[in-house]
Amino acid sequence: MSAPEEWTRICLASDVPVETPLGVELRGADETGRVCVVRLPDGGFQAMLDRCPHRDIRLSGGVVRDGLLTCPGHFWRFDLSDGHRTDEPAQVCTFHPTTVDDDGWVCARLPEPAPAVGMREWLLQQARRRAD
Ligand code: FES
Repeated sequence: MSAPEEWTRICLASDVPVETPLGVELRGADETGRVCVVRLPDGGFQAMLDRCPHRDIRLSGGVVRDGLLTCPGHFWRFDLSDGHRTDEPAQVCTFHPTTVDDDGWVCARLPEPAPAVGMREWLLQQARRRAD
């Protein structure tokens, strides 16, 4: 299939290592453009927000093995079939719908970019995240 407009090309499928996630930045400082792509055990691909649901750590720094993604922050493990933490399913990665187009690109439907916020609000958001 060719990628319709709502799909964003993330990376070439051939660039995604077998047991290492690939981190891609598409929108500069906008967090919604931070994408982590992993290979699935069935040969498919999954794109997700490159941010652990626990802290602001990039999941692309983790390890993929046996259908699980291990976060480099505190080693939580996420099931790549649904994004849920293996031992606490309430914690879940933010998966994006993912496909591979005819040209071999991994494509995802990304959320709309986050609205711009002022410096004060941005600093407060960062402080709240650290307090989580
Ligand atoms: S930051 Fe991912 S497990 Fe803590």
